Amino acid sequence: MPKLTVQRPSGVEEVLDVPAGDSVMEAATAAGVSEIEAICGGDMICSTCHVYVVDGPVDALPPVSDEEDEALGFVKAPREPGSRLSCQLPMSDAVDGLVVRVAPTQ
Ligand code: FES
Repeated sequence: MPKLTVQRPSGVEEVLDVPAGDSVMEAATAAGVSEIEAICGGDMICSTCHVYVVDGPVDALPPVSDEEDEALGFVKAPREPGSRLSCQLPMSDAVDGLVVRVAPTQ
C-alpha cells in the first residue's frame, strides 16, 4: 500500500497507508485531516482541497489538467509551483512516499 505523508498547517505530520486508487483528498479526509474541506467531494468545482506537493515522486503524478488549472485560480491560499487539488491526485505504488502540505486556508 503506498504511503502518503500529510503535513498539516500546524506542522503536525501524519504518514498514511493509502489503498491504491484513492485520491490524496480521500485519504486525508478519511484520516481526519479536517483542514481539507473538500466541499464538492472531488468534482473539481470547490477548490477547497488545496495542497502543496513538497516531496516524493512528483513526476509520477498526473499533470495539471486545464480544468484543474482553472480551479486552482480560485484557491484562497497563495498558489505556488507545487499547488494541486488533492482530489486530482490518485495514489498508486508509483507515488509511494508522496509528501503534501495542506494549504493554510481553503
Ligand atoms: Fe472540490 Fe477537490 S474536493 S475541488
